[in-house]
Amino acid sequence: MRQLLQVWMLLMALAFVNDRCHCCLQEERSGLLEIKAWFSHAPRFYELEDWDKDDLNCCNWGYRVACDNTTNRVIELNLSYLNYDAFVAYDTFVNYDADLYLNASLFLPFKELETLYLINNQLVGGLKNQGFQGLASGLRKLKILDLSYNKFNDSILSSLSGFSTLESLYLSRNNFTGTIGLRGFQALASGLRKLKILDLSYNKFNDNILSSLSGFSKLKSLDISGNSFTGTIGLHGLASRLRKLEELTLSDNKFNDNILPSLSGFSTLQYLDLSGNNFTGTIGLHGLRKLEVLHLESSDFKENILLESLGGLPSLKTLLASESKFEGKHFGKGQ
Ligand SMILES: *[C@@H]1O[C@H](CO)[C@@H](O)[C@H](O)[C@H]1NC(C)=O
Ligand SMILES: *[C@@H]1O[C@H](CO)[C@@H](O)[C@H](O)[C@H]1NC(C)=O
Ligand SMILES: *[C@@H]1O[C@H](CO)[C@@H](O)[C@H](O)[C@H]1NC(C)=O
Ligand SMILES: *[C@@H]1O[C@H](CO)[C@@H](O)[C@H](O)[C@H]1NC(C)=O
Ligand SMILES: *[C@@H]1O[C@H](CO)[C@@H](O)[C@H](O)[C@H]1NC(C)=O
Ligand SMILES: *[C@@H]1O[C@H](CO)[C@@H](O)[C@H](O)[C@H]1NC(C)=O
Repeated sequence: MRQLLQVWMLLMALAFVNDRCHCCLQEERSGLLEIKAWFSHAPRFYELEDWDKDDLNCCNWGYRVACDNTTNRVIELNLSYLNYDAFVAYDTFVNYDADLYLNASLFLPFKELETLYLINNQLVGGLKNQGFQGLASGLRKLKILDLSYNKFNDSILSSLSGFSTLESLYLSRNNFTGTIGLRGFQALASGLRKLKILDLSYNKFNDNILSSLSGFSKLKSLDISGNSFTGTIGLHGLASRLRKLEELTLSDNKFNDNILPSLSGFSTLQYLDLSGNNFTGTIGLHGLRKLEVLHLESSDFKENILLESLGGLPSLKTLLASESKFEGKHFGKGQ
């Protein structure tokens, strides 16, 4: 009875505390206000108007801020599409020069941050002394970092290697080339030991970085579509090191039939996208016992060896081959 009473009193006390404290951490609230000020010249600044210094609970400042329900610490920040104007950004007649150098120190108050979205903000790099390097040592919980649709180049790659807790990294549609090459990528791979999802799509990467990608040994999903890969040396090395890979997206590159034998090494693959490359169908695809979905759209098949080999893939459920030609004839919408 006495114990029950104690439990009841404790619960009441907690409820009281909860009820009284509609607030988030003071440092995080002022940190958010600094971020707001930093974006004050951005075309979509108005989207931060919920961020109000008079509201003590910054966890209620709209969908761009998410807190942990029990600790009230900020765990997710969505700062996507702020320095972005759909009408102006693509209008070549307006000289819209609004490149931003990221002041990464702005994020240092958010020690519990797990997810940071910075998509489509015309970010070109990090400020001197306030770039990602310092940030990585501050954000020890970060799991998801999305920098897609910006103007970052190779110069930031090595500084990303400090984010050792990162599980998903999205670098799609930036200005990376990988010409700083092996070094930068090897450092990245050896730093990001927990990375499961890596998206490098639609940059200017080429075969130079292929061998260093094998350092990301925990990867489940790799997207290198829309680059200049040809795969002349094959993907054997990659296949033998990425033993957990389930999704591989190679579309819109210049891969040709020569890489098909090495693909059979990716024995854990469930999803493979080969569309929009230079496959002609002269070599078959074998060994992918778990493959369920295969994309072969926008290809020009001269021979049917590849297609016939697909009958030997025991788990294949979905084959997509629209916009593909087969010995000169158009394929239907394949399923
Ligand atoms: C936190 O609360 C939100 C909104 O009430 C809810 O959607 C979410 O599932 C909760 N998260 C956890 C981890 O309890
Ligand atoms: C982040 O914000 C953008 C812009 O409003 C929105 O389109 C996107 O869905 C949001 N992302 C998440 C994961 O909430
Ligand atoms: C970057 O942000 C930090 C933290 O808000 C601030 O102290 C510093 O002055 C800023 N640096 C620049 C160059 O704006
Ligand atoms: C990368 O971007 C930074 C910042 O805009 C610039 O100073 C540097 O010259 C660029 N480097 C390359 C290789 O393009
Ligand atoms: C991308 O990098 C190239 C050099 O590699 C440079 O000439 C070009 O201006 C950059 N583009 C942007 C949008 O920064
Ligand atoms: C690869 O395909 C592109 C267009 O899809 C074509 O322009 C190019 O000539 C092809 N290259 C080879 C080596 O077949």
